[in-house]
Amino acid sequence: MDPPHNDRLLRAAKGDRVDRPPVWVMRQAGRYLQEFKNVRKKYNFFHICQTPELASKVTLQPLKRFKLDAVIIFSDILVIPQALGMSVEMLPEVGPSFPRPLKIPGDLALLECDVDVDVALGYVYEAISLTCQKLEGRVPCIGFCGAPWTLMCYMIEGRGSQTVSGAKKWLYAYPKESHILLDILTNICIKFLVGQARAGARYLQVFDTLALHLGRDLFVKFAFPCLKKIAAKVKDELKQQDLDVPMCVFSKGTHHCLEMFEDTSYDVVGLDWTVEPAYALQKLPTKTLQGNLDPGALYSSKEDIEVLVKEMVAKFGGGKSKYIANLGHGVYPDCEPENMKAFVDAITAIV
Ligand code: CP3
Repeated sequence: MDPPHNDRLLRAAKGDRVDRPPVWVMRQAGRYLQEFKNVRKKYNFFHICQTPELASKVTLQPLKRFKLDAVIIFSDILVIPQALGMSVEMLPEVGPSFPRPLKIPGDLALLECDVDVDVALGYVYEAISLTCQKLEGRVPCIGFCGAPWTLMCYMIEGRGSQTVSGAKKWLYAYPKESHILLDILTNICIKFLVGQARAGARYLQVFDTLALHLGRDLFVKFAFPCLKKIAAKVKDELKQQDLDVPMCVFSKGTHHCLEMFEDTSYDVVGLDWTVEPAYALQKLPTKTLQGNLDPGALYSSKEDIEVLVKEMVAKFGGGKSKYIANLGHGVYPDCEPENMKAFVDAITAIV
């Protein structure tokens, strides 16, 4: 596939100089946009994910409003547990819910571990291919997956949780089985990301949203090795197919071991808003950094958003080298699209 015309994101990820920072926003498609809510009124959430025409339509919606440098394919991290045979519903006001979460290590036997990922999740690849066709190279399409630890949390908790104590119980009480589950998930993530790149994704992000629940010891023992292996293997396999796709890890709340990502194959490290840019620059001297305005800052006035953006970009060294502008986590569902526009415009105005 030809490279996109606007390859600012890819160049920044690779460490090349750019005219201004590239910008995209986590969760830029979906819940806060009226045009998404209109589609969502007609169809169930996973039906949209599984229907390439609908998924690509929603993927492209934010590009019509904002001068973004990338789109992220409309999907969800929970498509992997679904591929393993677990049922997941999206309940109003609740979010994702598993009618039969994993309760005891014996439940691992119920997972369909020998699933052919490329078949089970082929609909995501089709959505990416269709999106790339429609983009006609305007901007790159981002592929993604949930990190093994975050997926393990949802598979055990069965829904969002304040403490993820159920999943942590596994780490402390059943470490061997935890490693088995994390291994299964790691291997699926690898295949799935490679498949997304083959389908046309030009940037791959791994979301470890729930890493914030782990202290350094548990993160090092359980979550980090999976993240490291995913980047190493995906890069390796893509290289064999003459593909070179930058990879980003977003591991929320792991400021306590940021330097460890220096020794991984990720090109980009996504930062949440609690991390001071100067600290990250010092800990990750060779990596491109992505982030990290507090999503709450989009409740400010448009004038204040512009000031906050300027301050952020200055703290990352001006943004023309090894920097990708983003929020420090997903845009909130009640964000005013006009304020999202103010954020994107403030970045694209940088000269
Ligand atoms: O532009 C985009 O990023 C949209 C694609 C996307 C969705 N989910 C769509 C979605 C992406 C990249 C995700 C990732 C995702 N899903 C994460 C990691 C990123 C993060 O925000 O932490 C996680 C933890 C999930 C699991 C998940 N899916 C939760 C906890 C929820 C409920 C809360 C919420 O985000 O609304 C979802 C539902 C979901 N995923 C919606 C959308 C548009 C809203 C569901 C609806 O329409 O009913």
